[in-house]
Amino acid sequence: TRTVKLAVIPGDGIGPEVVAEAEKVLDAATAGSDVVFDKTRFSLGAGRYLETGDTLTDDDLAAIKSHDAIVLGAVGGVPGDPRLKDANIERGLLLKLRFELDHYVNLRPSKLYPGQPGPLADPGDIDFVVVREGTEGPYVGNGGSIRRGTPHEVANETSVNTAYGVERVVRFAFELAERRSKRLTLVHKTNVLVNAGSLWQRTVQEVAIGHPDVAVDYLHVDAATIFLVTNPGRFDVIVTDNLFGDILTDLAGAVTGGIGLAASGNINPSGEHPSMFEPVHGSAPDIAGTGTADPTAAIGSIALLLDHLGLRDEADRVSRAIEDDISERGAEPRTTAQVGDAIAARLQA
Ligand code: NAD
Ligand code: IPM
Ligand code: MN
Repeated sequence: TRTVKLAVIPGDGIGPEVVAEAEKVLDAATAGSDVVFDKTRFSLGAGRYLETGDTLTDDDLAAIKSHDAIVLGAVGGVPGDPRLKDANIERGLLLKLRFELDHYVNLRPSKLYPGQPGPLADPGDIDFVVVREGTEGPYVGNGGSIRRGTPHEVANETSVNTAYGVERVVRFAFELAERRSKRLTLVHKTNVLVNAGSLWQRTVQEVAIGHPDVAVDYLHVDAATIFLVTNPGRFDVIVTDNLFGDILTDLAGAVTGGIGLAASGNINPSGEHPSMFEPVHGSAPDIAGTGTADPTAAIGSIALLLDHLGLRDEADRVSRAIEDDISERGAEPRTTAQVGDAIAARLQA
């Protein structure tokens, strides 16, 4: 028997609602197999902060690090809640986990499943993966503001792009492209961000030499948003920085049928630290407690988790159950639990 130590962070809002369904599906996918998930639940997020004042303690972090992998629902309160100032949950918890655990690949696949309605009249075949850099870029922060609150305020954030950080994520993206349709698109904004843009572009050119069979192209991020809507089939692997990848993947979720379907993995490819699997969406305070959140993204993140752990059969079975469920979804809305039950039932069959 193989035991996988799994840290579970349900989080806030719809986080616990969708994680409950993801756990159902994980249990169904591994029932009777020789892998056992030994789960530890961590109470983290805006709720915990408001109760105790803690965001992510050193003990929390050390305990999480001792696991093999992490499943996270969503963290964060109601945007604009004055009690949650200074992005303490986003920066102090979610980004801290990604940075401390060196999740330099934020893997965000987008696929339009047969039968899935979406906003595009003629979507074509959509099946691409955004490889979003996860530890650098403008997310590093390192800025500050001076003369705050005055008419002469100057507010800065620094975008950090290191040769080491860019190269490792670009290499990962090329290796992924080799296993897929062998097309890679760098998305950046080299016409304005000349320093970071040049580093990204040179790195892609250099790594491309070792992958002569991968067709490489480049798009400025603004143009990329056009093509994501007008011709998403042109994409296979997109490699981009932390902020552009954040924005592109919400758009990608929307064009493939909704953010409730978009799964992701924050990967530490070396395996030195646990990787973390979570839906792309947030805590959705506007629908929390209504039982209407779509758990498919969280369930899809379980497929990514299983694949990451090398449990390919289980991962494929979960992916197929999701695909089958989507293709047979009727028009009448289902609750969060009904979707989870339906997908889990396909795994028991
Ligand atoms: P959001 O993704 O939570 O919600 C955006 C819209 O999508 C809302 O209308 C919401 O109802 C809808 N939506 C999201 N997930 C859905 C699902 N599974 N099914 C159906 N509809 C869904 O983004 P937001 O409103 O900008 O952020 C809310 C909070 O979540 C903020 O505190 C934000 O910082 C945080 N956040 C956390 C994560 C994370 O934990 N990974 C990701 C994004 C946002
Ligand atoms: C995401 C979220 C986070 C991000 C926020 C909550 C820090 O939007 O996972 O996409 O920007 O990465
Ligand atoms: Mn986002």
